[in-house]
Amino acid sequence: MTSPLNVAIIGMGTVGGGVAQILTEHSERCARRSGRSIHIAKAVVRDLSKPRGIDLPDGVLTDDVQSVIDDPNIDVAIQLMGGTDPARQVMLSLLEAGKDVVTANKALLCDHGPELFEKARELGRCIAFEAAVAGGIPIIEAVSQSMSGNQITSIQAILNGTCNYILTEMLKRSASYGDILSEAQELGYAEADPAMDVEGTDAAQKLVILCQLAFGKRVSLSDFPTQGIDSLELADLKYAAELGYRIKLLAVAQLVGDSLELHVEPKLVHSDEPIAKTDGPLNIVALNGDAVGPTWYAGAGAGKMPTASAVVADLMDVVIGRAQLTFPLMSVWGDTGPQVRPPEEITRRYYLRFNVDDRPHVLADITDILGRNEISIASVIQHEAPEATGGETRSVPLVIMTHTTTEGRIRMADSELSQLDSIKAPRIRLPVLD
Ligand SMILES: NC(=O)c1ccc[n+]([C@@H]2O[C@H](COP(=O)([O-])OP(=O)(O)OC[C@H]3O[C@@H](n4cnc5c(N)ncnc54)[C@H](OP(=O)(O)O)[C@@H]3O)[C@@H](O)[C@H]2O)c1
Repeated sequence: MTSPLNVAIIGMGTVGGGVAQILTEHSERCARRSGRSIHIAKAVVRDLSKPRGIDLPDGVLTDDVQSVIDDPNIDVAIQLMGGTDPARQVMLSLLEAGKDVVTANKALLCDHGPELFEKARELGRCIAFEAAVAGGIPIIEAVSQSMSGNQITSIQAILNGTCNYILTEMLKRSASYGDILSEAQELGYAEADPAMDVEGTDAAQKLVILCQLAFGKRVSLSDFPTQGIDSLELADLKYAAELGYRIKLLAVAQLVGDSLELHVEPKLVHSDEPIAKTDGPLNIVALNGDAVGPTWYAGAGAGKMPTASAVVADLMDVVIGRAQLTFPLMSVWGDTGPQVRPPEEITRRYYLRFNVDDRPHVLADITDILGRNEISIASVIQHEAPEATGGETRSVPLVIMTHTTTEGRIRMADSELSQLDSIKAPRIRLPVLD
């Protein structure tokens, strides 16, 4: 066996700790599979006084990232600090210093991928990023290598475990969004500031990366609509279940004719579908290829060891030299893909829920507005409410499933519906995955 390969782990938090654990506890396995022993030469943190829960030899832990950049004996940097600043500059400096880089940082790749990949290619280095999308699920390899005989025609994915956990538990335990979010924070499934997860940004960042690989299309977050789960109520999950669906936060990229439809939003998914059955913090990616047909990849999309598993696999690919071969051929951050379809042209069925006054003509007013916007109704649910006693007008929920229509038409109708006094907040509008 040749001399050990020196690596630096930059960021020894959740994922970095898991990577160090695999490399130290299973060093023989890693050496056997990569043909070379792997030595952690440096581990960079911000705060040296924090307990790390892992034994590293004296001198390995440092708060000086420049010492990694300047060390010519370090071949590969595993960059596991979050955010984009200073992560972007650190990655550029590592590449310029001649190091290959492994990362799990999707925010960095989403915002600065073109610059970083161009720099790596220019310098003959590689960036491996399996852990940046869907954690432990090998989806980057599936999209960029295993499906290379196909044109991928659609990606439909649950890419955020926090949201999936919240939606699953709300329905299972008849609990409110707020209660389950607090519990997810206590269990470590949700950050203290959950905005990136529950507003859909985390899933959208991952979709940007998948979209590049699958369709060669460079998009940014502002190019497609993103909606989270933070305005969903238990009532919607229950009505959807009554209609035979589950509500999931889905990231979707699909070819429709010559254009690419892209969005992240909560959707009704038929209960029989593998996506609907993917519960708790798990992720799933449904990929359709023109040769292979439908395929599904499911598992732990985040967490210490699942994410570390993907990082270590990438590291081994770099040690073996596989990543150096595949990286230059990946269709990343070029811009040769199809045009993104304007959201108003997206066509699908919709679930609508209103709180309406329980009095004559209300349903007629709603159906009139839908009809004038050429939206046809497939079904209506309104449960019988107890008779009002004091002559007051009560609000009752009304759920309508439409036939296929466009996002543009449904927006126009929604704007008219918002003018009706008989409809009270909330007005919920969710598309259906067909
Ligand atoms: N956690 C997951 O399940 C998961 C899954 C997929 C992808 N990711 C991605 O993986 C990356 C790491 O996530 P994580 O959960 O491991 O984060 P984390 O627990 O917050 O750890 C970040 C680490 O980076 C260090 N760090 C931050 N800024 C630094 C700086 N300027 N200089 C030196 N060290 C610095 C921190 O040092 P201190 O410890 O001293 O503060 C910490 O050790 C993120 O990009 C994240 O999006 C995470």
